[in-house]
Amino acid sequence: MRTKFLPSFLWGAATAAYQVEGAHDEDGKGPSIWDTFSHSPWRVTNGDTGDVACDHYHRMAEDVLLMKELGLKAYRFSISWPRIQPKGKGPVNDKGLDFYKRLVDALLDAGIKPFATLYHWDLPQALEDKGGWTNRDVADYFADYATIAFNALGDRVDGWFTLNEPICTAFLGYKDGVFAPGRNCLTDALMASHVQLLAHGKAVAAFRAAKTSCGRIGIVLDMADVQAASKHPSDIAAADRDDAFHNRLYADPIFGKGYPSVLVDWIGKEWPKIPNGDMKIISAPIDLLGLNYYSGRLVSANPQSDFLKTSSKALEAEGTVKTDMGWGVWPNGLYRLLIRIKKQYADIPIYVTENGMANRDEVDEKGEVPDDARIDYLSRHFAAAAKASKDGVKLEGYFVWSLLDNFEWACGYTKRFGLVYVNYKTGQRILKKSARWYARVIADNGFTT
Ligand code: FCB
Repeated sequence: MRTKFLPSFLWGAATAAYQVEGAHDEDGKGPSIWDTFSHSPWRVTNGDTGDVACDHYHRMAEDVLLMKELGLKAYRFSISWPRIQPKGKGPVNDKGLDFYKRLVDALLDAGIKPFATLYHWDLPQALEDKGGWTNRDVADYFADYATIAFNALGDRVDGWFTLNEPICTAFLGYKDGVFAPGRNCLTDALMASHVQLLAHGKAVAAFRAAKTSCGRIGIVLDMADVQAASKHPSDIAAADRDDAFHNRLYADPIFGKGYPSVLVDWIGKEWPKIPNGDMKIISAPIDLLGLNYYSGRLVSANPQSDFLKTSSKALEAEGTVKTDMGWGVWPNGLYRLLIRIKKQYADIPIYVTENGMANRDEVDEKGEVPDDARIDYLSRHFAAAAKASKDGVKLEGYFVWSLLDNFEWACGYTKRFGLVYVNYKTGQRILKKSARWYARVIADNGFTT
């Protein structure tokens, strides 16, 4: 069967600053919450840190050449806020900004469209010391930082994303404590969630005001395909709450529908007081939506749990294959979500801003990395995306997560998501079998299965 894409389709790959750059204290960069978190004992597997990571900060030119070799049409990277403003506000660190100027220029020279994410989880530590995302002032500081980025790069960046996956920052970072900054407080998480949305809205307004910006702006949400495990009313209600939390908590306010009432009611008195006017700021129109898609959730009711622990008897019930993260392979969920966004929210341009799998990749005796499981994973998800496109979704591009094996947050270097294998001892890059396959998909604008 032939799967085809539009000639204009933007095939890409994604990374994030803390996961690949390294150079954690170089050229005037300030510490981020991930520097602090990874340097604290027991937080990250094996005590791994992003101090060196893929050393992309020093190997950027080589990495752009790799992207060119693959034929990438677009590259999604994130800007490290504490590289630009070491203390999160105040003076600009020109050397930090220069890195991204060089990156954008190198991409354009290679014929690759730059897509920049302003916040992929590395909050300046100095702002965490002032309360982090629970402090409303941080929304204004974020808009100031965004303006610096728009003014420096706005004439050359095609697509901007304000935040990456605000749910992870808020709930994994402020409630579950498994991500930076490592707090364990539901009310902090709810506030961090709201302040991030406010920051997003203020950054969108700043983008409209910045004279140099010629690209488009949106946000990156990770959405899960949530299904009830049975037709039993309690499972259906549990799935609805789970969906409200994983999907509607962010998408509803951004698209002007306010917070989902099922969630507000469920949380009750801990729900934060929202000042008048916030929801209008948050729902400022966006030009595109980034969707990070990895898996689905099959949800059944669990009377013992609070709403955030709604038991999710995910996927093994369906006999799905698991990736090395333990995430079930669920490609039809991508199709369903893309159609749902168009129908339920807006018929706007969508990018799959992340999709990919962790796999136990090893270099074989021929020096190759035969990651056939990744080829299978990607081809099934590409096919789901192509089907949604055929059914009218304005899907403009697709960024595979990730270009490189990299620092996978709390899992450190134990999980490999790259199209390109990284030897962390030497820094050597090796194109995996999936990278060579992806290069052919890009060249042919499709593939045959
Ligand atoms: C997403 C993150 C990304 C990466 C993938 C595997 O949640 O945005 O940085 O860690 O998961």
